[in-house]
Amino acid sequence: MEPQVLLDLKDVNKVFGQNHVLKHINLQIERGKFITFLGPSGCGKTTLLRSIAGFYTVDQGEVWIDGNMVNDLPPYKRGTPMVFQEYALFPHMTVFDNVAYGLDMQKRPEAEVQQRVQAALAQVKLTGLEQRYPHEMSGGQQQRVAMARALVMNSPIILLDEPLSNLDAKLREEVRVELRNIQQELGLTVIYVTHDQLEALSMSDYIVVFNKGKIDQYGTPHEIYYKPRTRYVADFIGTTNFIEATIERQEGDQAAVVYGKGRRALLKTDESWTANQKAVLSIRPESLRLNPPEGYPFQMKGKVKSSMFLGEKERYFILDDEGKEWIVDAYDVGQTTYDGEVAFGAAADKIHIIPDDGDQA
Ligand SMILES: Nc1ncnc2c1ncn2[C@@H]1O[C@H](COP(=O)(O)OP(=O)(O)O)[C@@H](O)[C@H]1O
Ligand SMILES: [Mg+2]
Repeated sequence: MEPQVLLDLKDVNKVFGQNHVLKHINLQIERGKFITFLGPSGCGKTTLLRSIAGFYTVDQGEVWIDGNMVNDLPPYKRGTPMVFQEYALFPHMTVFDNVAYGLDMQKRPEAEVQQRVQAALAQVKLTGLEQRYPHEMSGGQQQRVAMARALVMNSPIILLDEPLSNLDAKLREEVRVELRNIQQELGLTVIYVTHDQLEALSMSDYIVVFNKGKIDQYGTPHEIYYKPRTRYVADFIGTTNFIEATIERQEGDQAAVVYGKGRRALLKTDESWTANQKAVLSIRPESLRLNPPEGYPFQMKGKVKSSMFLGEKERYFILDDEGKEWIVDAYDVGQTTYDGEVAFGAAADKIHIIPDDGDQA
Protein backbone atom coordinates (compact mmCIF):
# COMPACT_ATOMS: atom_id res chain seq x y z
CA MET A 1 0.00 0.00 0.00
CA GLU A 2 1.15 3.52 -0.70
CA PRO A 3 2.13 5.47 2.38
CA GLN A 4 -0.53 7.95 3.46
CA VAL A 5 1.95 10.76 4.00
CA LEU A 6 2.88 12.21 0.64
CA LEU A 7 4.80 15.30 1.70
CA ASP A 8 6.87 15.38 4.85
CA LEU A 9 8.67 18.57 5.87
CA LYS A 10 11.14 18.09 8.69
CA ASP A 11 12.44 21.18 10.46
CA VAL A 12 12.65 23.18 7.23
CA ASN A 13 14.46 26.52 7.45
CA LYS A 14 15.16 29.10 4.78
CA VAL A 15 17.22 32.22 5.25
CA PHE A 16 17.66 35.13 2.83
CA GLY A 17 20.59 37.22 4.07
CA GLN A 18 19.55 38.41 7.53
CA ASN A 19 15.96 37.37 6.96
CA HIS A 20 15.01 34.03 8.56
CA VAL A 21 11.98 33.46 6.33
CA LEU A 22 11.00 29.86 7.18
CA LYS A 23 11.39 28.88 10.81
CA HIS A 24 11.41 25.21 11.76
CA ILE A 25 8.57 24.09 9.51
CA ASN A 26 7.30 20.63 10.41
CA LEU A 27 4.37 19.43 8.37
CA GLN A 28 2.96 16.18 7.06
CA ILE A 29 0.51 16.16 4.20
CA GLU A 30 -1.66 13.21 3.35
CA ARG A 31 -2.36 11.91 -0.11
CA GLY A 32 -5.56 13.11 -1.78
CA LYS A 33 -6.17 16.17 0.38
CA PHE A 34 -6.70 19.80 -0.45
CA ILE A 35 -4.32 21.77 1.75
CA THR A 36 -4.25 25.54 1.96
CA PHE A 37 -1.31 27.65 3.06
CA LEU A 38 -2.90 30.74 4.57
CA GLY A 39 -1.27 33.89 5.88
CA PRO A 40 -0.75 37.56 5.14
CA SER A 41 1.61 38.77 2.46
CA GLY A 42 5.27 38.25 3.34
CA CYS A 43 4.83 35.39 5.82
CA GLY A 44 6.73 32.87 3.67
CA LYS A 45 4.03 30.95 1.77
CA THR A 46 5.62 31.29 -1.66
CA THR A 47 9.08 30.58 -0.24
CA LEU A 48 7.82 27.29 1.21
CA LEU A 49 6.07 26.34 -2.01
CA ARG A 50 9.23 27.07 -3.99
CA SER A 51 11.25 25.04 -1.48
CA ILE A 52 8.91 22.08 -1.99
CA ALA A 53 9.07 22.42 -5.77
CA GLY A 54 12.85 22.69 -5.72
CA PHE A 55 13.26 26.27 -6.97
CA TYR A 56 14.91 27.02 -3.62
CA THR A 57 17.14 24.72 -1.63
CA VAL A 58 16.48 24.76 2.09
CA ASP A 59 19.17 25.88 4.52
CA GLN A 60 18.29 23.34 7.17
CA GLY A 61 15.88 20.45 7.36
CA GLU A 62 14.52 17.90 4.92
CA VAL A 63 11.86 17.78 2.22
CA TRP A 64 10.41 14.32 1.59
CA ILE A 65 8.05 13.62 -1.31
CA ASP A 66 6.46 10.19 -1.62
CA GLY A 67 9.05 8.54 0.59
CA ASN A 68 12.08 10.15 -1.04
CA MET A 69 14.33 12.83 0.38
CA VAL A 70 14.40 15.41 -2.42
CA ASN A 71 16.63 18.15 -0.95
CA ASP A 72 19.23 17.70 -3.69
CA LEU A 73 16.86 17.14 -6.60
CA PRO A 74 16.19 19.88 -9.16
CA PRO A 75 12.56 20.90 -9.83
CA TYR A 76 12.06 18.78 -12.93
CA LYS A 77 12.99 15.65 -11.00
CA ARG A 78 10.56 16.43 -8.18
CA GLY A 79 7.52 16.44 -10.48
CA THR A 80 5.79 19.27 -8.62
CA PRO A 81 4.88 21.93 -11.17
CA MET A 82 3.77 25.26 -9.83
CA VAL A 83 0.86 27.00 -11.45
CA PHE A 84 1.16 30.74 -11.15
CA GLN A 85 -1.46 33.40 -11.22
CA GLU A 86 -4.40 33.28 -13.64
CA TYR A 87 -3.75 29.60 -14.23
CA ALA A 88 -1.00 30.75 -16.59
CA LEU A 89 -2.59 29.52 -19.82
CA PHE A 90 -0.93 30.77 -22.99
CA PRO A 91 -3.69 32.75 -24.74
CA HIS A 92 -2.29 32.25 -28.23
CA MET A 93 -2.08 28.46 -27.90
CA THR A 94 -4.83 25.88 -28.27
CA VAL A 95 -5.95 23.75 -25.36
CA PHE A 96 -3.93 20.86 -26.74
CA ASP A 97 -0.75 22.91 -27.01
CA ASN A 98 -1.24 24.41 -23.56
CA VAL A 99 -1.49 20.96 -22.03
CA ALA A 100 1.37 19.60 -24.12
CA TYR A 101 3.69 22.44 -23.16
CA GLY A 102 5.61 20.70 -20.35
CA LEU A 103 6.06 17.52 -22.38
CA ASP A 104 7.26 19.51 -25.40
CA MET A 105 9.83 21.20 -23.16
CA GLN A 106 11.08 17.75 -22.22
CA LYS A 107 11.16 16.86 -25.92
CA ARG A 108 9.02 13.76 -25.45
CA PRO A 109 8.22 11.78 -28.63
CA GLU A 110 5.18 12.98 -30.59
CA ALA A 111 3.14 9.80 -30.04
CA GLU A 112 3.68 9.90 -26.29
CA VAL A 113 2.65 13.57 -26.18
CA GLN A 114 -0.54 12.78 -28.10
CA GLN A 115 -1.42 9.93 -25.82
CA ARG A 116 -0.68 11.69 -22.53
CA VAL A 117 -2.42 14.95 -23.48
CA GLN A 118 -5.54 13.05 -24.54
CA ALA A 119 -5.51 11.10 -21.29
CA ALA A 120 -5.14 14.26 -19.20
CA LEU A 121 -7.93 16.02 -21.09
CA ALA A 122 -10.16 12.99 -20.61
CA GLN A 123 -9.47 13.10 -16.86
CA VAL A 124 -10.71 16.68 -16.64
CA LYS A 125 -13.59 15.96 -19.06
CA LEU A 126 -12.43 18.24 -21.86
CA THR A 127 -12.14 15.66 -24.63
CA GLY A 128 -13.18 17.23 -27.94
CA LEU A 129 -12.11 20.76 -27.03
CA GLU A 130 -8.44 20.30 -27.99
CA GLN A 131 -8.50 22.95 -30.70
CA ARG A 132 -10.19 25.70 -28.67
CA TYR A 133 -8.33 28.75 -27.45
CA PRO A 134 -8.54 29.84 -23.81
CA HIS A 135 -10.76 32.85 -24.60
CA GLU A 136 -13.31 30.50 -26.16
CA MET A 137 -13.86 28.71 -22.83
CA SER A 138 -15.50 29.53 -19.52
CA GLY A 139 -13.40 30.30 -16.45
CA GLY A 140 -14.18 26.87 -15.03
CA GLN A 141 -13.07 25.13 -18.22
CA GLN A 142 -9.88 27.16 -18.27
CA GLN A 143 -9.15 25.96 -14.75
CA ARG A 144 -9.63 22.40 -15.99
CA VAL A 145 -7.06 23.04 -18.72
CA ALA A 146 -4.63 24.38 -16.13
CA MET A 147 -5.13 21.25 -14.05
CA ALA A 148 -4.70 19.02 -17.11
CA ARG A 149 -1.38 20.73 -17.66
CA ALA A 150 -0.24 19.68 -14.22
CA LEU A 151 -1.77 16.19 -14.51
CA VAL A 152 -0.02 15.44 -17.79
CA MET A 153 3.31 15.68 -15.96
CA ASN A 154 2.19 12.95 -13.53
CA SER A 155 2.82 15.25 -10.60
CA PRO A 156 2.34 13.68 -7.21
CA ILE A 157 1.44 17.08 -5.77
CA ILE A 158 -0.03 20.09 -7.50
CA LEU A 159 1.17 23.40 -6.13
CA LEU A 160 -0.96 26.47 -6.76
CA ASP A 161 0.31 29.89 -5.74
CA GLU A 162 -2.62 32.32 -5.46
CA PRO A 163 -3.90 31.21 -8.88
CA LEU A 164 -7.17 33.12 -8.68
CA SER A 165 -6.05 36.46 -7.32
CA ASN A 166 -6.32 38.30 -10.64
CA LEU A 167 -9.88 37.21 -11.34
CA ASP A 168 -13.00 39.20 -10.59
CA ALA A 169 -15.12 38.00 -7.68
CA LYS A 170 -17.76 36.10 -9.66
CA LEU A 171 -15.30 34.22 -11.84
CA ARG A 172 -13.15 33.46 -8.81
CA GLU A 173 -16.13 31.80 -7.15
CA GLU A 174 -16.82 29.69 -10.25
CA VAL A 175 -13.22 28.61 -10.66
CA ARG A 176 -12.88 27.86 -6.95
CA VAL A 177 -15.78 25.42 -7.09
CA GLU A 178 -14.37 23.84 -10.25
CA LEU A 179 -10.93 23.43 -8.74
CA ARG A 180 -12.32 21.73 -5.65
CA ASN A 181 -14.49 19.46 -7.83
CA ILE A 182 -11.56 18.31 -9.96
CA GLN A 183 -9.42 17.72 -6.88
CA GLN A 184 -12.12 15.54 -5.31
CA GLU A 185 -13.10 13.69 -8.50
CA LEU A 186 -9.51 12.69 -9.20
CA GLY A 187 -8.30 12.37 -5.61
CA LEU A 188 -5.46 14.81 -6.24
CA THR A 189 -3.14 16.18 -3.61
CA VAL A 190 -3.21 19.94 -3.93
CA ILE A 191 -1.39 22.63 -2.00
CA TYR A 192 -3.08 25.94 -2.53
CA VAL A 193 -1.64 29.25 -1.38
CA THR A 194 -3.86 32.19 -0.50
CA HIS A 195 -4.07 35.20 1.81
CA ASP A 196 -7.87 35.07 1.53
CA GLN A 197 -9.34 33.41 4.62
CA LEU A 198 -12.78 32.83 3.10
CA GLU A 199 -11.20 31.05 0.18
CA ALA A 200 -9.23 28.90 2.62
CA LEU A 201 -12.24 28.09 4.79
CA SER A 202 -14.47 27.17 1.87
CA MET A 203 -12.10 24.98 -0.15
CA SER A 204 -9.76 23.13 2.15
CA ASP A 205 -9.57 19.78 3.87
CA TYR A 206 -6.83 21.29 6.04
CA ILE A 207 -5.48 24.78 6.51
CA VAL A 208 -1.95 25.68 7.53
CA VAL A 209 -1.89 29.13 9.14
CA PHE A 210 1.44 30.91 8.80
CA ASN A 211 2.64 33.57 11.18
CA LYS A 212 5.90 35.24 10.16
CA GLY A 213 7.58 32.11 8.85
CA LYS A 214 6.19 29.77 11.52
CA ILE A 215 3.18 27.49 11.44
CA ASP A 216 0.75 28.62 14.13
CA GLN A 217 -1.87 26.00 13.41
CA TYR A 218 -2.62 23.06 11.16
CA GLY A 219 -6.21 21.91 11.22
CA THR A 220 -9.56 21.57 9.50
CA PRO A 221 -11.38 24.79 8.59
CA HIS A 222 -13.70 24.11 11.53
CA GLU A 223 -10.86 23.73 14.01
CA ILE A 224 -9.11 26.82 12.72
CA TYR A 225 -12.28 28.89 13.00
CA TYR A 226 -13.74 27.60 16.26
CA LYS A 227 -10.65 26.41 18.09
CA PRO A 228 -7.84 28.79 17.16
CA ARG A 229 -4.72 27.82 19.05
CA THR A 230 -3.24 31.30 19.18
CA ARG A 231 -4.50 34.82 19.43
CA TYR A 232 -2.93 35.47 16.05
CA VAL A 233 -5.01 32.73 14.37
CA ALA A 234 -8.24 33.91 16.01
CA ASP A 235 -7.49 37.43 14.89
CA PHE A 236 -6.51 36.56 11.34
CA ILE A 237 -9.43 34.23 10.57
CA GLY A 238 -12.79 35.92 10.49
CA THR A 239 -13.91 38.61 12.90
CA THR A 240 -13.77 38.15 16.62
CA ASN A 241 -13.97 39.98 19.94
CA PHE A 242 -11.14 39.60 22.41
CA ILE A 243 -11.17 40.29 26.09
CA GLU A 244 -8.22 39.74 28.41
CA ALA A 245 -8.68 37.22 31.19
CA THR A 246 -6.74 35.58 34.00
CA ILE A 247 -7.18 32.02 35.17
CA GLU A 248 -8.21 31.90 38.83
CA ARG A 249 -8.17 28.15 39.09
CA GLN A 250 -8.49 25.07 36.93
CA GLU A 251 -10.45 21.99 37.94
CA GLY A 252 -10.92 19.10 35.58
CA ASP A 253 -12.17 20.48 32.29
CA GLN A 254 -13.32 23.75 33.80
CA ALA A 255 -11.53 26.95 34.53
CA ALA A 256 -12.65 29.82 36.70
CA VAL A 257 -11.61 33.00 34.92
CA VAL A 258 -11.66 36.68 35.71
CA TYR A 259 -12.19 38.83 32.64
CA GLY A 260 -12.50 42.53 31.96
CA LYS A 261 -12.69 44.59 35.11
CA GLY A 262 -13.24 41.83 37.64
CA ARG A 263 -16.07 39.85 36.05
CA ARG A 264 -16.06 36.11 36.68
CA ALA A 265 -17.05 33.09 34.64
CA LEU A 266 -16.72 29.32 34.80
CA LEU A 267 -15.64 28.06 31.39
CA LYS A 268 -15.06 24.71 29.75
CA THR A 269 -11.43 24.23 28.78
CA ASP A 270 -9.69 21.44 26.93
CA GLU A 271 -6.17 22.37 27.92
CA SER A 272 -4.63 22.35 31.30
CA TRP A 273 -4.35 25.83 32.64
CA THR A 274 -2.62 27.00 35.76
CA ALA A 275 -3.68 29.63 38.25
CA ASN A 276 -2.66 33.19 37.36
CA GLN A 277 -2.03 32.29 33.74
CA LYS A 278 -2.84 35.07 31.28
CA ALA A 279 -5.42 34.26 28.66
CA VAL A 280 -7.66 35.91 26.17
CA LEU A 281 -11.28 35.06 25.49
CA SER A 282 -12.28 35.04 21.84
CA ILE A 283 -15.99 35.36 21.08
CA ARG A 284 -17.23 35.57 17.49
CA PRO A 285 -19.83 38.26 16.64
CA GLU A 286 -22.32 35.53 15.70
CA SER A 287 -21.76 33.83 19.07
CA LEU A 288 -22.95 36.86 21.04
CA ARG A 289 -26.66 37.29 21.71
CA LEU A 290 -28.45 40.54 22.36
CA ASN A 291 -30.89 40.26 25.29
CA PRO A 292 -29.30 36.95 26.27
CA PRO A 293 -31.13 34.41 28.40
CA GLU A 294 -30.23 34.17 32.08
CA GLY A 295 -27.58 31.64 32.95
CA TYR A 296 -25.12 32.57 30.23
CA PRO A 297 -21.70 32.63 31.90
CA PHE A 298 -20.69 35.64 29.89
CA GLN A 299 -22.79 38.78 30.31
CA MET A 300 -22.12 42.38 29.39
CA LYS A 301 -24.02 45.65 29.19
CA GLY A 302 -23.37 48.41 26.74
CA LYS A 303 -24.65 51.08 24.44
CA VAL A 304 -25.22 50.68 20.69
CA LYS A 305 -22.90 53.06 18.87
CA SER A 306 -23.78 52.16 15.31
CA SER A 307 -24.99 49.31 13.16
CA MET A 308 -24.58 48.00 9.67
CA PHE A 309 -27.00 46.00 7.51
CA LEU A 310 -25.25 42.98 5.99
CA GLY A 311 -28.15 41.17 4.36
CA GLU A 312 -28.78 38.09 6.48
CA LYS A 313 -27.62 39.90 9.61
CA GLU A 314 -27.33 43.27 11.26
CA ARG A 315 -23.92 44.03 12.72
CA TYR A 316 -23.92 46.15 15.89
CA PHE A 317 -20.99 48.09 17.30
CA ILE A 318 -21.46 48.31 21.04
CA LEU A 319 -19.48 50.17 23.68
CA ASP A 320 -19.60 48.24 26.96
CA ASP A 321 -19.78 49.83 30.39
CA GLU A 322 -16.03 49.23 30.84
CA GLY A 323 -15.20 51.27 27.73
CA LYS A 324 -14.49 48.43 25.33
CA GLU A 325 -15.97 48.04 21.86
CA TRP A 326 -17.73 44.86 20.74
CA ILE A 327 -19.06 43.56 17.45
CA VAL A 328 -22.33 41.65 17.78
CA ASP A 329 -24.27 40.12 14.89
CA ALA A 330 -28.04 39.81 15.15
CA TYR A 331 -29.92 37.51 12.80
CA ASP A 332 -33.45 38.67 13.64
CA VAL A 333 -33.15 41.33 10.96
CA GLY A 334 -36.40 43.17 10.34
CA GLN A 335 -37.96 41.91 13.57
CA THR A 336 -36.05 43.76 16.27
CA THR A 337 -33.92 46.86 16.11
CA TYR A 338 -31.57 47.31 19.01
CA ASP A 339 -30.80 50.80 20.19
CA GLY A 340 -29.47 52.59 23.28
CA GLU A 341 -28.72 50.41 26.32
CA VAL A 342 -28.47 46.69 25.58
CA ALA A 343 -27.38 43.53 27.32
CA PHE A 344 -25.41 40.92 25.42
CA GLY A 345 -23.86 37.61 26.31
CA ALA A 346 -22.54 34.27 25.15
CA ALA A 347 -23.16 30.64 26.06
CA ALA A 348 -20.28 28.70 27.60
CA ASP A 349 -19.56 26.67 24.49
CA LYS A 350 -19.25 29.83 22.38
CA ILE A 351 -16.42 31.27 24.43
CA HIS A 352 -12.99 30.17 23.31
CA ILE A 353 -10.12 30.57 25.71
CA ILE A 354 -6.58 30.99 24.31
CA PRO A 355 -3.21 31.51 25.98
CA ASP A 356 -2.28 35.17 25.61
CA ASP A 357 1.13 35.50 24.02
CA GLY A 358 0.37 39.08 22.98
CA ASP A 359 0.82 38.23 19.31
CA GLN A 360 -1.78 39.75 16.99
CA ALA A 361 -2.43 39.56 13.27
N1 LIG B 1 14.42 35.42 -3.56
C1 LIG B 1 14.35 36.13 -2.42
N2 LIG B 1 15.42 36.83 -1.97
C2 LIG B 1 15.36 37.53 -0.82
N3 LIG B 1 14.27 37.60 -0.04
C3 LIG B 1 13.17 36.95 -0.44
C4 LIG B 1 13.14 36.18 -1.64
N4 LIG B 1 11.92 35.62 -1.76
C5 LIG B 1 11.20 36.04 -0.69
N5 LIG B 1 11.95 36.82 0.11
C6 LIG B 1 11.50 37.41 1.39
O1 LIG B 1 10.94 36.38 2.16
C7 LIG B 1 9.80 36.82 2.88
C8 LIG B 1 8.62 35.95 2.55
O2 LIG B 1 8.26 36.14 1.21
P1 LIG B 1 7.18 35.21 0.46
O3 LIG B 1 7.54 33.80 0.66
O4 LIG B 1 7.09 35.71 -0.93
O5 LIG B 1 5.85 35.55 1.26
P2 LIG B 1 4.32 35.32 0.85
O6 LIG B 1 4.27 34.42 -0.33
O7 LIG B 1 3.71 34.71 2.07
O8 LIG B 1 3.75 36.66 0.57
C9 LIG B 1 9.62 38.29 2.52
O9 LIG B 1 10.22 39.07 3.53
C10 LIG B 1 10.38 38.41 1.21
O10 LIG B 1 10.87 39.71 1.07
MG1 LIG C 1 3.43 34.73 -2.23
